[in-house]
Amino acid sequence: MKRSVIITSDGSSSLLIEDWKETYHSVFGAIQEARHVYIQEGFSQIDAAAFRVLEMGFGTGLNALLTALEAESQGKQLCYHAVEGFPLNREEIDALNYAEQLENPLAARDFNAMHQIEWEVAHPINSCLVLKKVHALFETVVLEPQSYDLIYFDAFGFPYQPELWSQAIFEKMFDALAPNGILVTYACRGPIKLAMRNAGFKVVRLAGPPGKRQMIRAHKISKETGFNS
Ligand SMILES: C[S@@+](CC[C@H](N)C(=O)[O-])C[C@H]1O[C@@H](n2cnc3c(N)ncnc32)[C@H](O)[C@@H]1O
Repeated sequence: MKRSVIITSDGSSSLLIEDWKETYHSVFGAIQEARHVYIQEGFSQIDAAAFRVLEMGFGTGLNALLTALEAESQGKQLCYHAVEGFPLNREEIDALNYAEQLENPLAARDFNAMHQIEWEVAHPINSCLVLKKVHALFETVVLEPQSYDLIYFDAFGFPYQPELWSQAIFEKMFDALAPNGILVTYACRGPIKLAMRNAGFKVVRLAGPPGKRQMIRAHKISKETGFNS
């Protein structure tokens, strides 16, 4: 499918799938959305000094980049696995402007490292984050039980990929999360919440980023701890 690079309202770039008219991020702001959904409502919710992250849909690497910068600024040690079925090509990667938009001198270093490392092998990106990119369809990836504390679920929208927003896929992620692990995603449709609940998650609706009313944080509640929010 043909993809083109676009600029979203906060000045940061994203990609558009032309046939679907579907973008990789919110058109109201790619960086703004990624910070809100994945960093604020995901990464920042975990107190541990070291934890494991799984991302469904590595794409531009924006979520991984923001996570690497945040991990280093907070001194947290992260093991980050990102699954991607349709990697970007060099021309698309070179057209992304995250390093300039983030105004962080370390952003270019981490962004380049993420896109240079080979697939299927874990590599340190900075002093705090080790990244393994897995080139595969998420449906086919085997996930170890209880091997992640946080999941970023960043598939294309429900109308385009209903098979990924299914109970079977959420069950797979539920099993892969450690007790009290969380999954965050930008979407909040009824069938998605139902599929998550049927998979065993406690679903919490949160305010979305600008341009989006709501998003979801789904919790794998440990029976001992219960749920207090
Ligand atoms: C909404 S985009 C988000 C990308 C990424 N998180 C980012 O910040 O750029 C969805 C991503 O999921 C990938 N994807 C779609 N279907 C997939 C599948 N079945 N298995 C693995 N990756 C898939 C797409 O290629 C794309 O990179």
